[in-house]
Amino acid sequence: MSLFNDILAADQTLFKDDTILDFDYIPTIVSGRDDEIKGIVESVKPLFFDKAPTNLFITGLPGIGKTLALKFVFNDLKQTSSDIIPCYINCWKNSTYHSVFVELSKFFGVPYPSKGVSTDEIIRGITKKIENKKGIVVAFDEIDKARTMDFLYPLIDGFGRKICLLLVSNYNNFLSKVDSRLLSRLNIENLDFKPYNRPQFENILKERVDYAFYPNVFEKDAFNTVVDKACTKKDVRLGISLLLKSGRRAESESSKKVKKEHVDFAIKNIEESLQKDRMKDLEDHEKKILDLLKGENGIITGDLYDKFVKTGENISMRTFRKYLNQLERSEFINTEDTGAGFRGKSRKIYLKNYGS
Ligand SMILES: Nc1ncnc2c1ncn2[C@@H]1O[C@H](COP(=O)(O)OP(=O)(O)O)[C@@H](O)[C@H]1O
Ligand SMILES: [Mg+2]
Repeated sequence: MSLFNDILAADQTLFKDDTILDFDYIPTIVSGRDDEIKGIVESVKPLFFDKAPTNLFITGLPGIGKTLALKFVFNDLKQTSSDIIPCYINCWKNSTYHSVFVELSKFFGVPYPSKGVSTDEIIRGITKKIENKKGIVVAFDEIDKARTMDFLYPLIDGFGRKICLLLVSNYNNFLSKVDSRLLSRLNIENLDFKPYNRPQFENILKERVDYAFYPNVFEKDAFNTVVDKACTKKDVRLGISLLLKSGRRAESESSKKVKKEHVDFAIKNIEESLQKDRMKDLEDHEKKILDLLKGENGIITGDLYDKFVKTGENISMRTFRKYLNQLERSEFINTEDTGAGFRGKSRKIYLKNYGS
C-alpha cells in the first residue's frame, strides 16, 4: 500500500452535504422531544376552537433543542392552518419595544421601515391584519436578551384570547426577575426541556454524521469522542460544531478519514474560542481576577486578594468574595475549601477551562 493512500485529492471532500451541520438546519425528525413538542402544541391548540391558549415559559440549558422544537412546531402549524399565524422573534436581534413590533409586522405581509413610523401605528396595522384570523402565536426566543418586556402589554391587552405567547430562555430563574404585575397578567406555565441522555445524543449526532459525511468517513472512536464531549456538556450544538470542525481539520490534512486526533484538535480549538467569547461579557474587574489566576496552580483567597489590591483596586475582602462567587457561578473558576484562615473560610481558587 502506498504511503500516500490516505491522502485526499485536492478536489475531494469528506462532506456529502455540510449544510446539514448548519445551526438553523431543521432535521425531519426531532427525536427525544416528544413531550416538549406536545407541550407546545397543547398550549396553542385552544386557538383552533376560539378558546384561550396557554402562555408558556420554555426553559432549559443551551443547545438542547428549544429553538428547534419551536421552529418544528411552527413549520407544522404553517402547513396546517392559514388562520393561526406563528411568529418567531429572537430578542437578541430585536431587543427594543419598537423593533419587536417592526419584526412582528413582517409576519403579516406589511413590513414597516424601522424608522419614521410610530410603534402605535405599527400595532394598529398588525391589529387590523389579525381581525379576520383565529389567532397568533408569538415566540420570543432568548427573552432574557430583551432590553424591556413592555412590548408584552399591548399584545396581551390588544389580542387577549387570540394570542399565545411563548417566552424562551436558557435561564430557568428568569421569571423571578419579571415584574409581578406583568407575570399575573401573563398567567404563564412552565415547560422545562430536560437534558438528553447518552443514547439520545448518540442518535441525534449519528443522524447528522450520516447525512453530512460520505459513508465510513467518520471513524468510530472519533465519533464516540464527539458524543462524549456533547454529553458531558449536555449540549447538542457543541456536538454538531465538533462534527463540522473535525471534518474540516481532517480535510486540511488531506486525510480520507476523520480520526480521533482531528476531533481532539477541534475540541481544543472550540474550547479556546468559547472561552474567548465568554470572556467578552465579563466586567473589567472579573477579567483582572482571571488574568491574575493564569499561571497559578491554585491560590488561597487571601493571597489572590492581596495581588488584586496591588493592581490598584480598592475594595473590601467582602466585595472580593462576591466577585469570586459570581465567577464560580458562571463557571470560570473552581474553588476548594482549605479549612484554614479566618473561621476556616479560606478557599483555594483555580482557573477553570471550558473543557474541564
Ligand atoms: N432532538 C434533536 N434532533 C436533532 N437535532 C437537534 C435536536 N436537539 C437539538 N438539535 C440541534 O442542536 C442544535 C442546538 O439546538 P437549539 O434548538 O438551537 O438549542 P437551544 O435553543 O435549546 O439552545 C441545533 O442545531 C439543533 O438543530
Ligand atoms: Mg435557542
